[in-house]
Amino acid sequence: MNKKSKFGLEVIDSNEKTQKIQKVFSSVATNYDLMNDLMSLGSHRIWKRRFFQVVKPRQSDILLDIASGTGDIAINFARTCKGINLTCLDANKEMLTIAENKFIDLGIIENINFIAKPIEKFKEANNFTLATIVFGFRNFTDQPTALENIYDSLKIGGKLVIMDFKSPSNEIIRKLYEKYTDFVIPKIGKYIAGDEDSYKYLSDSIKTYIKPDKLLHLMESKRFQNVSYETLPGDIVTIHKGYKI
Ligand SMILES: C[S@@+](CC[C@H](N)C(=O)[O-])C[C@H]1O[C@@H](n2cnc3c(N)ncnc32)[C@H](O)[C@@H]1O
Repeated sequence: MNKKSKFGLEVIDSNEKTQKIQKVFSSVATNYDLMNDLMSLGSHRIWKRRFFQVVKPRQSDILLDIASGTGDIAINFARTCKGINLTCLDANKEMLTIAENKFIDLGIIENINFIAKPIEKFKEANNFTLATIVFGFRNFTDQPTALENIYDSLKIGGKLVIMDFKSPSNEIIRKLYEKYTDFVIPKIGKYIAGDEDSYKYLSDSIKTYIKPDKLLHLMESKRFQNVSYETLPGDIVTIHKGYKI
């Protein structure tokens, strides 16, 4: 039987999910940065600031930024830690090309690599000291394989940090939040980006995303150690971290 994966509220063949995810991100690529600001009402900047504090990147790091997208996080790393050795990996060529052009515009070209590949098909044994994933993990077709590949690609002592959404724990707040993600976000997508369906997927994918405790256990089952997570104020975003020791 074919392997199955969650795609929003549906469960579909894994191969089909990979293609559908490609379609979503090819469609949203051009408006991605603007939509990010609108959908999160600017909060993604605060979340990303906290993410930085947890990651604590150093100039000497060899960093793999997975699901780099349009390069928001990666550019911040490159600016904060000048000269850092940085690999931006993303399954979607359109998203990654936008990132690459931004780096060129900023004149940041040394020690930066771009790899257009799904993380499930990427491994560079014992090469990186740090791996980061921001709002990408829930889109992966095969999360266990992704974690195995990341683990293998880290050097001993290396750290993985994942930031993604969660559903609010409080039922009333969750219902209100779901109204926002079910109705408001797809409509913003329709009027700004001309694409309601892709933004409906992004909302649905939050509802069906792995619970924070389960992700912690999944990371542990893939040999990460000292795994922990924190929930950011607002109860809709978590940051998980774990080490290869
Ligand atoms: C919501 S965007 C996040 C982009 C960026 N990290 C940010 O925070 O702005 C998710 C990204 O994950 C990428 N992606 C989805 N599945 C992937 C996979 N299996 N391997 C690598 N990247 C993937 C998508 O192409 C997309 O660019």
